[in-house]
Amino acid sequence: MNQIQVLSPSVLDEVPERLAEMRDVVDTLRTPRGWHYYIDLCWLARELAPTPGLSVLDAGAGNGVLQWWLAQTGVDVLSVDGQRRAHPGLRFEQWCAHRDGDNTPGYRRLPARSYLPPLRFWRRHAWHETARALRSTLGPLPPQYSGSVTFLTRSLAELSGIASESLDAIVSISALEHNDPEVLAVVVRELERVLKPGGCMIATVSGSRGEDWYHEPSHGWCFSEKTIAECFGLESYESNFAEVETRFDELVACTFLRDDLPPFYFKGADNGMPWGEWDPQYVPVGVVKRKP
Ligand SMILES: C[S@@+](CC[C@H](N)C(=O)[O-])C[C@H]1O[C@@H](n2cnc3c(N)ncnc32)[C@H](O)[C@@H]1O
Repeated sequence: MNQIQVLSPSVLDEVPERLAEMRDVVDTLRTPRGWHYYIDLCWLARELAPTPGLSVLDAGAGNGVLQWWLAQTGVDVLSVDGQRRAHPGLRFEQWCAHRDGDNTPGYRRLPARSYLPPLRFWRRHAWHETARALRSTLGPLPPQYSGSVTFLTRSLAELSGIASESLDAIVSISALEHNDPEVLAVVVRELERVLKPGGCMIATVSGSRGEDWYHEPSHGWCFSEKTIAECFGLESYESNFAEVETRFDELVACTFLRDDLPPFYFKGADNGMPWGEWDPQYVPVGVVKRKP
């Protein structure tokens, strides 16, 4: 059944094993996360229930957690983002196989000008990676997983080179709200094109308690239920938007999220939680759309 669900922090208690796994990815790989990411991730993981060998497109994957967790479960991830991801580093190589799907020249190669890289390279890059590699060697190594991550640099509105009906599922965490509603509708249609019949699109976006509004600090829209339904082309769906105020109150009262605010929120006033002050302004929303 198609769904538009205002997400609740209660999902963290419902799937504690998923939460532990997500935290492990964040701690091991030092991936970035926002204040409600664990809710989004745990809800999406539960909805998808991935199995080894599944092919999944992560739309707007950035440097996010989800792609690495999926690979850990044996999924082959097509990680698509408008921004080219640099070589992610040794710790990711130990995590799972990954490659540049665009075959960008120079990807994963050391600078070729001389045999020994210049000093600034060692300072900025090699020393950190060597230290990390040593730490990993001395401590327990993360397991090698059978899944993989393939990076593609693309606009989500134009997935050239990706065959129609080629992927088992589409997932997306906190990415689609960075598109204006009319662009989002195009993005959703393009994502549906590459999804196999019977496959599922599962995404989280930011939701509004009223009309659409633009959240400057995160450069993203907070969408109303109506806009989400229109952009995703949902005619019939289950919704709990009638309870949006209750869900919002639960978020505000969630001490786990408040006490676990990532350090970058404490470093400035323009990040949505000025100087680390707990002040949620919108609700995370999960969308499920099944392709007939
Ligand atoms: C806030 S980041 C979230 C990244 C990741 N999903 C995570 O969980 O950390 C949003 C990402 O979506 C990407 N994105 C949003 N809209 C896009 C579009 N239309 N085409 C390509 N990438 C897009 C941005 O480039 C950015 O990397």
